[in-house]
Amino acid sequence: MQKKIIFMKGDGIGPEIVDGALLVLKKVAEKYGHNFIYEEALIGGASYDACGEPLTQETIDKCKKADAVLLGAVGGPKWDDLPVPLRPEQGLLAIRKGMGLFANLRPAYLFKELASACPLKAELIKDGIDILMVRELTGGVYFGEHNTITKPNGKKYAEDKMAYSEEEIERIGFVAFEMAMKRNKNLVSVDKANVLDTSRLWQKVMHRLKEEYPEVDYKDMLVDNTAMQIVAKPSQFDVIVTENMFGDILSDEASMVAGSIGMLASASLGLGSIGLYEPSHGSAPDIAGQDIANPLATILSAAMMLRYSFDLPDEAAAIENAINKTLAAGYRTKDIMSECCKLVGCKEMAKKVVEKI
Ligand code: IPM
Ligand code: MG
Repeated sequence: MQKKIIFMKGDGIGPEIVDGALLVLKKVAEKYGHNFIYEEALIGGASYDACGEPLTQETIDKCKKADAVLLGAVGGPKWDDLPVPLRPEQGLLAIRKGMGLFANLRPAYLFKELASACPLKAELIKDGIDILMVRELTGGVYFGEHNTITKPNGKKYAEDKMAYSEEEIERIGFVAFEMAMKRNKNLVSVDKANVLDTSRLWQKVMHRLKEEYPEVDYKDMLVDNTAMQIVAKPSQFDVIVTENMFGDILSDEASMVAGSIGMLASASLGLGSIGLYEPSHGSAPDIAGQDIANPLATILSAAMMLRYSFDLPDEAAAIENAINKTLAAGYRTKDIMSECCKLVGCKEMAKKVVEKI
């Protein structure tokens, strides 16, 4: 199978973790006889430094023509003082929006071998943790109007508008119900319907969709309660669907419960098969360039690319199994290190996974 992959390393630890995932993809292509063609593109601070903006239209157009995009991470203190439209994070939001990727899938899965990296008591995780977070990615407060003004009294005033249309809720709801059907048929829809109009509309649309999926065990849950339930009883969750900002926050929480944010992959999908694959964590500028970052979230994202964009489930499973074996063999990066394990760097971890494919 021939596929074109654009890779964007971005900033901070981005280059190291993307290099790791590329090694793994190359091994998969070799073993299964695929022809993956790679092309590099710039995003975030790296793009700002080279082109004066965090994402160029040319890059968006290039990405749209590819079969999939692999991304590292963006941002860092070097660019923190730039005006908002030039900040690295804007590049990330622009590529998601520009490619129409409204559905962000973030699987928080606790690998058996990482049980000791989970901060929860053993009795709370005895039934395992396997949560698929479905985050709406191109709407809500992230993409509403943002304004900061100075009032006549000299004090500042800022506002960010949170908005959702029925169509936007419907399409993410549909993705979530379909995912639930493929998994354990359990769906929790998270909102703040006791306060927000957007959440009340969210619930209404989800309830209508629920009628089309009678097999799915569906529940509404308030976002504050969900934050509590994820740490109190994580095994109750199968698929969670929620709006953009709630999903941003809850997925970080779920990732920690699943051992480390260094393990949380993500796939961002739209209506077609093209997708953007990136770890859910940031660019970690404090550890950049030291070869200590965990490349597994990016490698797991590459596995999601094979599964969702290329329809290669066996190849995706080969990567996931190789990660399982690598962890079982005791190799750990610093973030998931525990006693009796062997500490390896970013490069070495990726090589260990490659060896086991
Ligand atoms: C994420 C990140 C981004 C987000 C930031 C970097 C803009 O936190 O992918 O979760 O908020 O979506
Ligand atoms: Mg986040």
